[in-house]
Amino acid sequence: MERLDKVISNLGYGSRKEVKIMAKKGLIEVDGVIVKDNGMAVDPEKSMIKINGEEITYRKYIYLIMNKPDGVISATCDNREETVIDLLEVEHQVFEPFPVGRLDKDTVGLLLLTNDGELNHRLLSPKWHVDKVYFAKIDKKVTEDDVEAFRKGITLDDGYVCKEAKLEILSATEEGSEVYVTIQEGKFHQVKRMFEAVDKKVVYLQRIKFGGIELDTDLEEGEYRELTEDELAILKLN
Ligand code: URA
Repeated sequence: MERLDKVISNLGYGSRKEVKIMAKKGLIEVDGVIVKDNGMAVDPEKSMIKINGEEITYRKYIYLIMNKPDGVISATCDNREETVIDLLEVEHQVFEPFPVGRLDKDTVGLLLLTNDGELNHRLLSPKWHVDKVYFAKIDKKVTEDDVEAFRKGITLDDGYVCKEAKLEILSATEEGSEVYVTIQEGKFHQVKRMFEAVDKKVVYLQRIKFGGIELDTDLEEGEYRELTEDELAILKLN
């Protein structure tokens, strides 16, 4: 059971103070009865709540897709740095979402956020082999030898041997290269460290795909939206 004002407020129908005023005015109905006590205990999954005669739809989880900008950290809170949660509207923050995995502060692109702990766990578990695809700019010429090394499994600086990764060269000159990298793991700074292992540096990193979901190019950096039903279904197939 939860407080009526908390349930209504969390669904984006105003602050708790506003809900109190609405209740006083007799605008809130629970299971067909006008309720003036804003602190009343309700079961949001079972009770039918109406505001001004209109039924509100309760939901427990939210699923967001963000085009993460540079300079923002993938944490829920931080005393000094701006976080991806700071970029959300209050109506989404009240669901207490968290990022599904992490992107580095200077990595941009597709970041999912949800408060669905079970899905989050599944998507990040090494057992499920969720593909993550990155577009990267590299400081040197990427070669077929690098493609082969990524396929065989790169050994990182700490001795960890990465699983097979797909490296696709889009362009390659002595001045620099552009590539796609597909990995299924999510070790700390993984893509950057994989390139360091072949003596190269990532100068730009953008995630463009995660578990079958593609970065929405209509989203400017820093923008986000809710996942569509279709996208959510794809994600849950992972
Ligand atoms: N690999 C990295 O090095 N950084 C990221 O943010 C994601 C993958």
